[in-house]
Amino acid sequence: MPEQPANSLTVRDNRTGQEYDVPITDGTIRAADIGQIRSGEDEPGLAVYDPGFVNTASCKSAVTFIDGEKGILEYRGYPIEQLAEKSTFLEVAYLLVHGTLPSKDEYDSWVHEITYHTFVHENVRSFMQGFRYDAHPMGMLMASVGALSTFYPDARNIHDAENRHMQIVRMIAKMPTLGAWSFRHAQGKPYVYPDNDLGYTANFLSMLFKMSEQKFQADERLVKALDVLFILHADHEQNCSTNAVRSVGSSQVDPYSAVAAGVGALFGPLHGGANEAVLRMLRRIGSMENIPSFIEGVKDGNERLMGFGHRVYKNYDPRATIIKKACDDVFEVTGVNPLLKIAQELEKIALEDEYFVKRKLYPNVDFYSGLIYEAFQFPPEMFTVLFAIGRTPGWLAQWLELVQDKEQKIARPKQIYTGDRTLDFTPASERWAQ
Ligand code: CMC
Repeated sequence: MPEQPANSLTVRDNRTGQEYDVPITDGTIRAADIGQIRSGEDEPGLAVYDPGFVNTASCKSAVTFIDGEKGILEYRGYPIEQLAEKSTFLEVAYLLVHGTLPSKDEYDSWVHEITYHTFVHENVRSFMQGFRYDAHPMGMLMASVGALSTFYPDARNIHDAENRHMQIVRMIAKMPTLGAWSFRHAQGKPYVYPDNDLGYTANFLSMLFKMSEQKFQADERLVKALDVLFILHADHEQNCSTNAVRSVGSSQVDPYSAVAAGVGALFGPLHGGANEAVLRMLRRIGSMENIPSFIEGVKDGNERLMGFGHRVYKNYDPRATIIKKACDDVFEVTGVNPLLKIAQELEKIALEDEYFVKRKLYPNVDFYSGLIYEAFQFPPEMFTVLFAIGRTPGWLAQWLELVQDKEQKIARPKQIYTGDRTLDFTPASERWAQ
């Protein structure tokens, strides 16, 4: 028998008895190599069935590293714990987009550019004012970020590096403005224009909460806590919304349309909508004595413990650990959220209960973030908007990588067809006459 290359997989097709050597690179085999395996000349090549892409790599990426077993998260190689403690959201945004940390000049000019672009065209304002009074802010954000593509038609020129940079700056700059206005809209309050004397996160808080005062001064501890939350959400490799951005971006559409798709994906309760769902769940449980029956409901499959479990983290979510700490800083300013006790008790029970232990279900980033957001007096509908603002640099870094990746193609998965074939069509007039 000929010797097989060490870094390869030998597959024997028992339908034909034929053997194939499939090269292994970076711990993966290429789907195209599997596609060469056929049971007959006219038969389709073997394909891989993987709903939810549980074990399929869709790209090569140098943006974010995750080791789910060890609970490691790094942006461009830097551990999330260090970035959360010592960096700022705009510096992290620079790091994600550019791949390296900025020099002093690069950082100053990045902050200047982003600050300069915080305003949106007045027509965006009128457009947003057209939403119903009770419009969900995520729906408003998704529509308004998508609408920016009509304000910047040059954004379609995705092959020009300078142009791409311009759109990236615009989007990071304008997301807080759109997010804050979506919030003010639901409250029936006047939209607040950006205050470019303030930093990124302080300005966002000003656009959210300023009323008649000359200048809105948020408590520095709250500014810092929100900045940390943005950092924690800034990227998370190929999650559902990033996959949506890449998938839509692979058609070579402008980045506003691609990011609007990401916002849509993030809206769902299994993704960014989970922290909203956590808060609703905690409120529904209401008191400590209802916890055991709730946990029984989860174990019977009638409930889901929102904020628990993760596709990748099977040990702990490092973001959850940092957020738990941030809770203390925020509650020092705002007072303790009474739901915290219920959350802590749920966590305690779940970490000891066999159902959760066996399935490796641990608190994820969303378990405690909702409690912090509520302490800021955000209604639950706003939570995912905050996630979207934080995630924007990550979406854009991934989009940038995608459009420059020569190996990428338009996203177009295969299917296994399970429907009828070759039926005879009878026109409606004949079918209905019978
Ligand atoms: N509560 C109860 N059981 C759960 C939970 C949960 N939160 N999560 C997973 N399980 C069970 C699930 O029923 C299954 O059990 P069995 O093997 O008996 O059928 C097992 O654990 C494996 O779950 P899965 O659904 O196959 O896992 P997944 O990787 O497809 O789903 C998840 C990951 C995050 C969608 C899921 O854990 C979940 O729905 N969690 C609650 C929602 C949530 O907190 N989402 C935020 C994720 S972190 C933020 C983000 O990245 O967007």
